[in-house]
Amino acid sequence: MIDPLLAPTLELPQLQARLRPWCFADAPALVEYANDQRVAQNLRDTFPHPYTHQDAEFYLCLMADQQRDLHLALEVDGRAVGSIGVHFKTDVRRRSAEIGYWLGQPYWGRGLATAAVQLVSTYVFAHFDVCRLYAVVFSTNLASARVLENAGYELEGIMRKSIVKDGQMLDSRLYARVN
Ligand SMILES: CC(C)(COP(=O)(O)OP(=O)(O)OC[C@H]1O[C@@H](n2cnc3c(N)ncnc32)[C@H](O)[C@@H]1OP(=O)(O)O)[C@@H](O)C(=O)NCCC(=O)NCCS
Repeated sequence: MIDPLLAPTLELPQLQARLRPWCFADAPALVEYANDQRVAQNLRDTFPHPYTHQDAEFYLCLMADQQRDLHLALEVDGRAVGSIGVHFKTDVRRRSAEIGYWLGQPYWGRGLATAAVQLVSTYVFAHFDVCRLYAVVFSTNLASARVLENAGYELEGIMRKSIVKDGQMLDSRLYARVN
């Protein structure tokens, strides 16, 4: 049984959207929106590209089973069009957590990611013993940096040559919101 705190439904009424746990019926939408180089190029290589039906099923099985992190689908018009997750750290970093997200390209530019990051950040600080949320953004990803700034995250530093993505060496930006 998944800890109910890890499986909330959080409403974004002003955007007619909500965040809710993943379910197996999300597979077709997941493939439709995740199978996009514009999404994958800003994420770790563990995010597959191309993104197949098998990748979606594998991910949704993980979601059905996992007990320690927060992983929510961003739902618009009844379909999962994006994802937001919080990975809780351990040991001496146990009061820190890393936030990550992506959104299907047709939904970009509506304020959805900013609202989702704001809502999830507030939720995590309210319900978990976490005082630091952080995100690492590739230096080329100006939209994501803006999302974090608008959601109250501060730039803490540039990690030079920290990323190898698609054969390119990139810097990354470390953003954090501290409670
Ligand atoms: C990054 C991403 C989540 C943004 O989602 P979104 O819902 O379009 O974001 P929002 O509409 O809430 O906000 C986007 C902000 O970036 C700005 N922006 C967009 N493109 C930009 C660009 N090329 N340069 C600078 N700013 C840009 C927008 O103007 C907006 O800022 P504003 O509200 O101050 O005007 C989405 O583009 C995405 O999924 N990208 C691929 C995956 C990814 O990058 N994930 C994050 C990894 S760290």
